[in-house]
Amino acid sequence: MMFKLCLILVLLIAVDATLAKSGYLSCSGNISSVTDIDRVHFAMNLEFMEAEFFLKGSTGKGLDAFNATLAKGGPPPIGAKKANLDPLTKRIIEEFGYQEIGHLRAIADMTGGIQRPLLNLTRENFAMFMDKAVGRRSKPLFDPYANSLNYLLASYYIPYVGLTGYVGTIPYLVYFNIKRLVAGLLGVESGQDAVIRTLLYERQNEPVEEYGGVTVAELTNEISYLRNELGMCGIKDEGLCVPQWLGAENRTTSNILSANPYSLSYDRTPQEILRVMYGTGDEHRPGGFLPCGANGRIARMFLEEGYCGHCDACLKDN
Ligand SMILES: *[C@@H]1O[C@H](CO)[C@@H](O)[C@H](O)[C@H]1NC(C)=O
Ligand SMILES: *[C@@H]1O[C@H](CO)[C@@H](O)[C@H](O)[C@H]1NC(C)=O
Ligand SMILES: *[C@@H]1O[C@H](CO)[C@@H](O)[C@H](O)[C@H]1NC(C)=O
Ligand SMILES: *[C@@H]1O[C@H](CO)[C@@H](O)[C@H](O)[C@H]1NC(C)=O
Repeated sequence: MMFKLCLILVLLIAVDATLAKSGYLSCSGNISSVTDIDRVHFAMNLEFMEAEFFLKGSTGKGLDAFNATLAKGGPPPIGAKKANLDPLTKRIIEEFGYQEIGHLRAIADMTGGIQRPLLNLTRENFAMFMDKAVGRRSKPLFDPYANSLNYLLASYYIPYVGLTGYVGTIPYLVYFNIKRLVAGLLGVESGQDAVIRTLLYERQNEPVEEYGGVTVAELTNEISYLRNELGMCGIKDEGLCVPQWLGAENRTTSNILSANPYSLSYDRTPQEILRVMYGTGDEHRPGGFLPCGANGRIARMFLEEGYCGHCDACLKDN
């Protein structure tokens, strides 16, 4: 069973490698005229998303209920709600949610921060990403808020992308204080990702009803493949079970942590992250979790002058 699963992944990755080689898109994080502060502001987009998803999912209350100033007047997310979580998962996610408030405060206190972008955390949006990953429609529609397993699968989307962003950003930082801040953010972010992946790993053979019994492990592979495809810079993302040549030291197929052949964390550029989070594969075309685009100077550099989106919510904002 596990062998078959890994074989499928080999095929997926072979396709992916050819994608990476086309490389007409920028896979370099060296963006001219970008400052340390721009880089941590960029990260705030993901920190806002994590804060809202974790806080709302575990407590039923969003960021504004805990600290009304951090959003700097940015719109509240749409579609986030309390998830039906078992007590252990609830405790873990609640802690993660509070940690995200701390992360936002840390960035805000040091740099002033940015406005919260509009976040699409609706069931429909998560289902759209999942369906795209699996390649067919869920039935019933995938609901991240329905139970702990679905919530963890949805969470598989989040800290990991932030983690790769921090790994990508640190080498470009100039100032001691910002390096110290981002190192601290990276540590907790990767811890969150590890916990989520471990909880999923324990359930790797469980079928996911909405996709006719596809297992948890297969679904994580498919989500990772989708992110590699959208990011367009090769393999930066691996599921919970890999062929041995992708496992640590070529000696294992278990893959609780996603890492490169030296077992170092993968890095992603802001452009790759935007392609993934927009779900469009194009940093110039918002959508997905960020229907009006991400905020801050880096994300806005890639948007056309005067961009105000294709949704009413964006127009209201401008
Ligand atoms: C980034 O780009 C600048 C300007 O093109 C160049 O001077 C610098 O060496 C580059 N840094 C890295 C790490 O590639
Ligand atoms: C919200 O966060 C800001 C930034 O850290 C802080 O100055 C403020 O005291 C916080 N407000 C509350 C209610 O905790
Ligand atoms: C949120 O995502 C869903 C599914 O993609 C979409 O139908 C809906 O229009 C989105 N909402 C906004 C405000 O973009
Ligand atoms: C693992 O296998 C890959 C592909 O066969 C090879 O490129 C890599 O060097 C191997 N890594 C180790 C640590 O042996």
